[in-house]
Amino acid sequence: MLFCIHTFGCQMNENDSRLMAGLLISAGHRQVDNLEEADIAIINTCCVRESAENRALGYIGSLKKWKQENPHRIVVVCGCMIQKDGNSELLRKSYRHVGIIIGTFAAALLPRYIESYAATGERIIDVEERYDLPELCRGEELPVTVENGYRAQININYGCNNFCTYCIVPYVRGRERSRKPQEILAEIEQLAAIGVKEIQLLGQNVNSYGKDLADGSNFASLLTSVNDIAGIARIRYMTSHPRDFSRDLVETIAGLDKVCHHFHLPLQSGCNRILQQMNRAYRTEEYSEHLRNIRAFLPDATITTDIIVGFPGETEQDFVETLHYMQEARFDAAYTFLYSRRSGTPAAQMAEQVDESVKRQRLQRLMDVQNEISRSINERLVGSCMPVMLDGASKNNPHMLSGRTDGNKIVVFPAPTTAWQAGQIFPVQITEAQTWNLKGKILE
Ligand code: SAH
Ligand code: SF4
Ligand code: F3S
Repeated sequence: MLFCIHTFGCQMNENDSRLMAGLLISAGHRQVDNLEEADIAIINTCCVRESAENRALGYIGSLKKWKQENPHRIVVVCGCMIQKDGNSELLRKSYRHVGIIIGTFAAALLPRYIESYAATGERIIDVEERYDLPELCRGEELPVTVENGYRAQININYGCNNFCTYCIVPYVRGRERSRKPQEILAEIEQLAAIGVKEIQLLGQNVNSYGKDLADGSNFASLLTSVNDIAGIARIRYMTSHPRDFSRDLVETIAGLDKVCHHFHLPLQSGCNRILQQMNRAYRTEEYSEHLRNIRAFLPDATITTDIIVGFPGETEQDFVETLHYMQEARFDAAYTFLYSRRSGTPAAQMAEQVDESVKRQRLQRLMDVQNEISRSINERLVGSCMPVMLDGASKNNPHMLSGRTDGNKIVVFPAPTTAWQAGQIFPVQITEAQTWNLKGKILE
């Protein structure tokens, strides 16, 4: 049958979608981009913020007509949102056109469920939190589906044990569990053999990798082993948690030639009282120590962060502390979010929820401060030359190419006259700086 996947959410969900596609291809199905051609529509959902959930529900609702047009069509809803309290019940009752509802724990059973649903037409709902099922991973037999031929993502640990009080992820992705280093390394070797140049190691908290393994592996030892794999040019990872981040890790990274000098280290708030309420388990003082270590070992490192504004109880004074912290820290970029109340999390129960209009106003002030910092850091790069790995033609202008620096900054530059291919590395001189990206030209 022909299937089409629509993915909401983070890189982890995108990777899960690729892995599910691999499983279905192995089972004899074929992936298509156009829903109208498809027999199976798969919606991989996110629920980290209310907006993500609403978008997914809207899209699922819109498939009712698609299903009515041809009753043999199959609608599958999977991913994080299903695992959140009440949602599977909502879909079961009010979205009758959805045939298969599976949570994050049963994703690897998708081909089996499709087969059974196609044969019997009986609805399937599997949303239990359980750990006895195979994890979604590439394994040995899966056809390799990679992002764009040269970059691949790999899960190194699943789930999260941190329970930040605002966050739904630990409830929908379950307890933290690490994959064995041998499995991860074998997969990366396989990927390198088919021409993959960049590896992105994925986990909700990569710094706690290995804590549940008996062989003494940790994130630094894993990076060291991945660095030895021939053919791989760049290694990235997502996401670091400041509580488990260490000077040793920075020192290890400084000694490894393939690990990119990009640190995405979510701060969430620059106010210690709020950090404590968030259960982040670090203070701004420790965070600043991480920044000093990174900058001491790797002065060229790009440092990015995530900030939530309007966490319950955040006062104007608390928010101003965050603004000041941002001014001192000088991040290359910050992903900024309005706090979104997620039922089932401790913060949703906190009394002093912040007014929506106050949140929006704070977000704007934060973005104004950060945009100026981002632009001024980027401006200092004008004139310098750096290796840029090509992603492909720029989306807005087919005569331009787009690629990334080691620090993960996007650079747009005119295509060379000779043939090029994604994954190729060019020396590029930066000619112009913007807030979100850079412009440059290839040095011949
Ligand atoms: N495990 C990663 C990413 C988690 S989700 C980490 O710990 O950094 C990505 C980002 O979404 C988080 O860093 C946080 O800034 C944001 N986020 C999570 N829950 C949120 C909520 N309820 N409201 C607003 N932003 C949220
Ligand atoms: Fe959520 Fe915190 Fe876990 Fe990140 S570390 S996924 S923010 S609970
Ligand atoms: Fe990712 Fe959203 Fe799930 S951010 S882990 S897809 S809740």
